[in-house]
Amino acid sequence: MNAENQIEQIPDQSPLRVLKIDASSRYDGSVTRQLANGFITELQKHHDAVEVQQRDVVSDALAFLDADWVNANFTPADQRSAEQMAVLEQSDRLVKELQDADVIVIGTPMYNFGIPAALKAWIDLVARAGLTFRYTENGPVGLLQNKRAYVVLASGGTPIGSEIDYASDYLRHVLGFLGIQDVELISAERININSEESKQHAYQQIHEAVEQLQQDLRAAA
Ligand SMILES: Cc1cc2nc3c(=O)[nH]c(=O)nc-3n(C[C@H](O)[C@H](O)[C@H](O)COP(=O)(O)O)c2cc1C
Repeated sequence: MNAENQIEQIPDQSPLRVLKIDASSRYDGSVTRQLANGFITELQKHHDAVEVQQRDVVSDALAFLDADWVNANFTPADQRSAEQMAVLEQSDRLVKELQDADVIVIGTPMYNFGIPAALKAWIDLVARAGLTFRYTENGPVGLLQNKRAYVVLASGGTPIGSEIDYASDYLRHVLGFLGIQDVELISAERININSEESKQHAYQQIHEAVEQLQQDLRAAA
């Protein structure tokens, strides 16, 4: 095997727990689903054991917050009725998936300059005071520690990072709010204009991000 193709795996690694979130309404031809899968494949090449939990926020039909949900959430956990616990069950499950993950990979399109409603529904369900953030005298503090996130974001024509991109900064902010400060953006921008070049650039970013992750894990071992 020549040096270029050689993939250095860290022996006897503990499993890397990855939560992959897909948010495109499309399945066939979805760029973000393809790239998020590509990210996992790249991780698996480098890491002995990758445990992937998949969460499809489109097909899983996440609930929008209603009055019962808000009331249940604001009721102290030890005082909730059985009905209130049932109302929060989906949210509890999504929070647990996040808490259990070392790495979060979010594949999302830009829709109407922001994120898809399905992904916003997921965010509303995982932003839980007392579970994923808490209020302190000095303001809110995120409770999801020692995690890193990769946001694979595709746009059709809007330049990512431009002043009309309301997706990338928002995701970075809200993940940081929950304690995930280490957020890397992998962009497949203006896919309708330059599809192949844009995808290749995204794959290159994925390759570099996974290499960097491996270096960091090795340094921390
Ligand atoms: C409902 C909808 C809204 C969209 N809004 C935007 C937009 O505001 N800006 C943009 O650049 N592209 C927009 N696009 C294009 C998508 O971001 C682009 O096609 C992306 O590749 C979709 O991700 P997917 O391939 O994973 O489905 C929109 C696409 C759809 C279906």
